[in-house]
Amino acid sequence: MVSSGASVDVAKVLFSAAEIKKRVDAMGRKLALEYANRKPLVIGTLSGAFVFTADLVRAMEPCPVGMDVTFCQASSYGAGTESSGDVKLVVSTHIPVKGRHVILVEDIVDTGATLVALINALTEAGAKSVECVALLNKKERRTVDIEPSYMCFECPDEFVVGYGLDFDQQYRCFPYVGVLKPEVYSR
Ligand code: XMP
Ligand code: MG
Repeated sequence: MVSSGASVDVAKVLFSAAEIKKRVDAMGRKLALEYANRKPLVIGTLSGAFVFTADLVRAMEPCPVGMDVTFCQASSYGAGTESSGDVKLVVSTHIPVKGRHVILVEDIVDTGATLVALINALTEAGAKSVECVALLNKKERRTVDIEPSYMCFECPDEFVVGYGLDFDQQYRCFPYVGVLKPEVYSR
């Protein structure tokens, strides 16, 4: 059953725009308190976390003094739905990471390989601390022993799109997170 407003390619809406807003607003307030005196460096992972990062930093009220926001790129997917396991990393941030308390913003933690690679890279770059906040946690699929420090929703083992997440670069603009119809990626 597709709820109203959902694309014909979406089998079901998992998290509505209203549910996401409520959860992200609460997460923003929590992080704002915890990082109030730590001048955090927020690093969103492109491209999937661009929407979540934008909403999360605006929900960080009161905004921690000295907070910076930037992005990095990590990719393990091509046009398919299975991770190759080979994580390509481009931590190209023009803001030095050394000595910073990093809040790494992920769209979804799946096998965990990307998260481990990113934490290692940021630690090597001299971050004082690295904590990950994930919008979605696909725990069932984990192959590496890692958990995001903060997460908004547990996600079932289904391929999801929307709120920044894509399939073959499509569906990122949907305001909700939904399960993609399998016939879309088996076309
Ligand atoms: P790993 O396996 O390294 O993968 O934890 C994390 C990255 O894989 C992508 N991913 C998804 N993207 N729908 C998506 O659009 C999904 O259901 C999905 N599962 C994993 C995502 O880029 C994430 O950062
Ligand atoms: Mg990602």
